[in-house]
Amino acid sequence: RNMASSEEMYLLYHGLLLPKETHSPESLKFAREYTFTDSDVLAVTYPKSGTIWMQEILPLLLNGGDLTPIHTIPNWDRTPWLEETRLALVVDQLASPRALVSHLPYHLMPPSFLASKAKVIYVMRNPKDVMVSSYYFHQMAGFLHDPGTFEEFMESFLEGRVLFGKWTDHVKSWKHTELGDRILYITYEEMVQELPAALRRMSDFLGRNLSEEVIQKIAENCSFETMKTNTMSNFSLIPKVLMDDNKSPFLRKGMVGDWKNHFSAEQLTRFISVISKELENESFSLPWSL
Ligand code: A3P
Repeated sequence: RNMASSEEMYLLYHGLLLPKETHSPESLKFAREYTFTDSDVLAVTYPKSGTIWMQEILPLLLNGGDLTPIHTIPNWDRTPWLEETRLALVVDQLASPRALVSHLPYHLMPPSFLASKAKVIYVMRNPKDVMVSSYYFHQMAGFLHDPGTFEEFMESFLEGRVLFGKWTDHVKSWKHTELGDRILYITYEEMVQELPAALRRMSDFLGRNLSEEVIQKIAENCSFETMKTNTMSNFSLIPKVLMDDNKSPFLRKGMVGDWKNHFSAEQLTRFISVISKELENESFSLPWSL
């Protein structure tokens, strides 16, 4: 793997790099033509912000804590990505109400999504930890380009030469919507800090009236430790050439603040200045300091 081969690894979709391993022109067409219904629930993330966590959480919240789906269906078929190739293969078998995830920016959502009353949960994670997580993901995922040094990867990340483009563009896109109370914003950090409370916020938003006991059961079954040992959620069913957990496990650390072990003082200053500049005229503020 080297930088030169990266063109063969990605397709360009409205200026965004998407891995060919999981995306195709057909899958993107399928996403555009997907018919959202009012009961569909979507979790949207910039990559490495807690997507597979939501693939665990949504089915559990929507079915009252029944563990069958998370124990019998791999995450990518249980709560598929709207834009990926698997959706077309499993769409007819999805449990109702359907739960999906997506990394698409708001302006690339299909018309049926905008026309429906489908609800969306946007999960945001501190970009410093997103970048660290992504750096290790690039090392273990054979279908992504070699990230090079941390310093080199930081430049790619800040310039948006990574999966789904710039972090700031993604956040801006989903912060400026006309979705009103159809969208809930939640942070990876609040999920790590107090998962039951975060689950309660999500279940209330989704109109589920779950008992404290069920919330506790869900929290235990989607904890980092439990997911790490769940073969339906830890990507161990994927061949090593595509995902090699000897290089770095997908469920790697699951913590807040690992960036402190990676950024030099100079890198931190540069990172913060680039990100803050790109957000300086925005009407929203970030839920944590950069
Ligand atoms: P780290 O690499 O920092 O450990 P995504 O699913 O969007 O690709 O995000 C992956 C990140 O979410 C990884 O972060 C992974 O460990 C973390 N994650 C997944 N499930 C988690 C859980 N139950 N609790 C905490 N972090 C989780």
